[in-house]
Amino acid sequence: MPPAATEASGSAGNGETAAGVSSERDEEGQGGGGAVEELPSWELCKVGKGVAAADYIPCLDNVKAVKALKSLRHMEHRERHCPTDPRPRCLVPLPERYRRPVPWPRSRDMIWYNNVPHPKLVEYKKDQNWVRKSGNYFVFPGGGTQFKNGVASYIKFIEQILPNIQWGIHTRTVLDVGCGVASFGGYLLDRNVITMSVAPKDEHEAQIQFALERGIPAFLAVIGTQKLPFPDNSFDVIHCARCRVHWYADGGKPLLELNRVLRPGGYYIWSATPVYRKNPRDIDDWNAVVALTKSICWRTVFRVQVKGIVGPSRGLKDLILSTRLHLTILPFSFLKKKLILIQVIGRTLFQKYISTNLQLIGLVFAMLWT
Ligand SMILES: C[S@@+](CC[C@H](N)C(=O)[O-])C[C@H]1O[C@@H](n2cnc3c(N)ncnc32)[C@H](O)[C@@H]1O
Repeated sequence: MPPAATEASGSAGNGETAAGVSSERDEEGQGGGGAVEELPSWELCKVGKGVAAADYIPCLDNVKAVKALKSLRHMEHRERHCPTDPRPRCLVPLPERYRRPVPWPRSRDMIWYNNVPHPKLVEYKKDQNWVRKSGNYFVFPGGGTQFKNGVASYIKFIEQILPNIQWGIHTRTVLDVGCGVASFGGYLLDRNVITMSVAPKDEHEAQIQFALERGIPAFLAVIGTQKLPFPDNSFDVIHCARCRVHWYADGGKPLLELNRVLRPGGYYIWSATPVYRKNPRDIDDWNAVVALTKSICWRTVFRVQVKGIVGPSRGLKDLILSTRLHLTILPFSFLKKKLILIQVIGRTLFQKYISTNLQLIGLVFAMLWT
């Protein structure tokens, strides 16, 4: 398999020539006579100095740009920074002993170790069942921070508490913010839901590469630094399970960006600690998020805590989830009062929902913990 070419990475060529190419093209680049254009020779991207040019995400690991950052407050150092001139132009080598990826659907559960040779996450998330090493493979048992006992039961549980979510029917597109190794998105494919999973590079290092090797759509970004690369109203559901985004920071900018890409009538599912923890910081976080969502006319339709036995036995701690239930149903008249603000932010579909007297518009806060 040939290496991949890049014109804009954080790494630089090391003088090793991988391929020298020249060809003949006509003016329209069709070939067959005319001017002879000499194409540049390509070099292998440099490996080392903090740059692992093996599993490659363009513009990541731009050491120079990261050093020059004025602030790291929003995790700017964990996102992509494309180099300006001179832009490196090199071929990215595949990792040693790389093999053709395991085909879908098996790849959801296992990938070749040598294709993404980063064992750190195995240790780091051992107790949360994200990923294990087994012989020549990484194996993904479907665990996560919020669903140690398996994401399948977590997905089912969400539909049980809010049947209107109707995975694959009412809900077809999901954005999973802070996705980890993207098991949530991987399992939703079984339910005919397409999920775009997103996470920054962080101490888990290779989470996005794992997701991509598994064949699950994913991209690398930090929420809260810049606009997301999606048009307005793109997703039926936005999901954040312990995704560590400070939603109300900077006057609520991160949540407002989600509001932009969430379809009117869609749901925001937030599985997070401030919901159930009683320390002052969590209580403050909870109150701030509630105030912010209210101010943009979102409504909490469920607040749930889970207790019970879910999923296969993997040690006592993993078996315990707690549950409590609280439901808010909004009267139509209340929603109507908010129409002006809704018009200001141009949510026309939302208005249509209102005009058809749909009484249950809002969002789910599904609060789970283990
Ligand atoms: C505790 S893990 C949870 C992963 C997964 N949702 C689960 O439940 O297993 C936190 C995740 O949030 C991501 N994250 C942290 N800060 C973020 C930010 N500002 N924007 C997007 N993702 C972020 C981390 O990279 C990581 O994937």
